[in-house]
Order: sequence, then structure tokens, then C-alpha cells
Amino acid sequence: MPEKTTWEKFFDAHAPIYEDNVFTKNTVREVDFLLDELHLPSGGSVLDVGCGTGRHAIELAKRGYAVTGLDLSSEMLSRAADAAKAENVHVEWIRANATQFTFPELYDAAVCLCEGAFGLLGESDDPIDQPLSILCNVSRSLKPQAKAVFTVLNAAAILRKYQNEDVAEGRFDPLTMVESSEHPPQEGMPAVAVRERAFVPTELILLFRLAGMSVLNMWGGTAGNWGRRSLDLDEIEIMIVACKTAELPAAGDAAKPRA
Ligand SMILES: C[S@@+](CC[C@H](N)C(=O)[O-])C[C@H]1O[C@@H](n2cnc3c(N)ncnc32)[C@H](O)[C@@H]1O
Repeated sequence: MPEKTTWEKFFDAHAPIYEDNVFTKNTVREVDFLLDELHLPSGGSVLDVGCGTGRHAIELAKRGYAVTGLDLSSEMLSRAADAAKAENVHVEWIRANATQFTFPELYDAAVCLCEGAFGLLGESDDPIDQPLSILCNVSRSLKPQAKAVFTVLNAAAILRKYQNEDVAEGRFDPLTMVESSEHPPQEGMPAVAVRERAFVPTELILLFRLAGMSVLNMWGGTAGNWGRRSLDLDEIEIMIVACKTAELPAAGDAAKPRA
């Protein structure tokens, strides 16, 4: 078994209390919102990347959709599987790194919510290649014209939060928009140092374009407060609604720009 990545260690330890977070309490309304945007056929297929404890995946399955939840953390997935069982719904759970999967043209839609992998950088992840690989993998997994909804950290809010001392002391890198932080030890777990990436809207449009997707809308996507409103500088997360518009080269060329 390869060594766990930092985020895998973090979410394995965080899994028992993840759903205590206040931002996880709006799942039913969020799924209503997603269904308004995704225009799924009845019983259509949805891929949830970085599905965590499966709260969106399970709610979508309860509404009759065929859902796959993909996540790196076996502890998050184990809770997801238990919750699906308790709700008596079927969801396919897959443990995988979102930078390394492919399910060619299988899905009617994809979601990647609350930084579900996107921008959660492992120790050796490149700040551009990591999100671009995820987008390419999602794009390859979608049927032509299928839609995707992502929520990702907003660089504008991050920039307003940090000072030059934070840059000097390594807490924030203004070149890559990467925050570095140390999470204190939890029961049975040593401290975990993690890196998290925020995004500027124009680069999101470019990254999605490189992955064969067109951005249709960018709205307020702060967890617990999604809305079809224009972004303000303090919005913690950006919601991106996109549509697959072009085919990509085969997997393995994920990080290469299209000709
Ligand atoms: C903040 S949680 C979001 C979970 C869920 N989407 C939600 O809205 O509640 C981020 C999830 O992304 C997963 N994750 C982090 N890096 C990943 C990667 N490289 N590949 C797949 N999943 C990853 C974590 O294990 C965690 O479950």
C-alpha cells in the first residue's frame, strides 16, 4: 500500500466529526439547487468527486439517480456506505485519487463540492497540474454536453485575509494561491500539515477550457450559502457551473494543454 497522502490522513482522522461541521447542514437544499442546474434525465447518472461522507451522493440516490461517490479517504467512504445502508439506497463507492481516475463518457453529470479534492494539494502535487488533472478526469467521464458543478476556494477572499508576514512565514504563497497550515494532533493521529489552493475566476475559465469544458456561470458557492448571485470579494467559495464541450486526448496526457 502506498503511504497515505496528507489529506487522506487528515480526512481519515476527521471523518467521525465531519458532519458536525455547520456547513454540512444544507444538503437537501443544495441537492435541489444541483438538480435545477444539472438538467438530468430521469434516473440519470451522477459522479460525485471527493464525495466525503456521501451527503450529496445519498440524497441524489434517494431521488432516483444512479450515483458514484469517489473519495481518497477510506474512513469518509466507510461512513458514507453506512449512511447509504441506513437510508436503504444504493450508491457505488470508489476509493481513488481524483487526479488518477477515468470512466470514459459514463456520466450525465458530475459534482465536486466543498473542495472535494479540487485544490486540496498532496505534498508533491503541483498547484496547476492537480486541479487540471481532476478537471480532465471529470471531463473524460462525462457524456458530451453533460454538466458539472464545482465549489472551490475564492482567491479574492484569501488575499484579503493574509498579510505580508504570512507570506514571509510560509502560511500563504501569493504566486500559487496556496495556503499551508498545520492541523493539531487528534486522537491517535499526529499533527498533519496540509496545503490548500484558492482560485481566481479567470484561471478557472482557462482550466475548465483546457479540460474541454465551458464555464456557464460562476456564482456564490460558500458552503451553507449557495446562491445565483455575483461574486463578492469575501465569498469563501466560488461555484462553477460548466458544460462539457470538447473531447480530450486519452488519459495520461491530462496535464498537457490541448492543441
Ligand atoms: C471538505 S470534504 C467535502 C466532502 C463532500 N463533497 C461535501 O460536500 O461534504 C473534501 C473531501 O475530498 C476528499 N479528497 C481530498 N483529496 C482527494 C483526492 N485527491 N482524491 C479524492 N478525494 C479527495 C477528502 O477525503 C474529503 O472527503
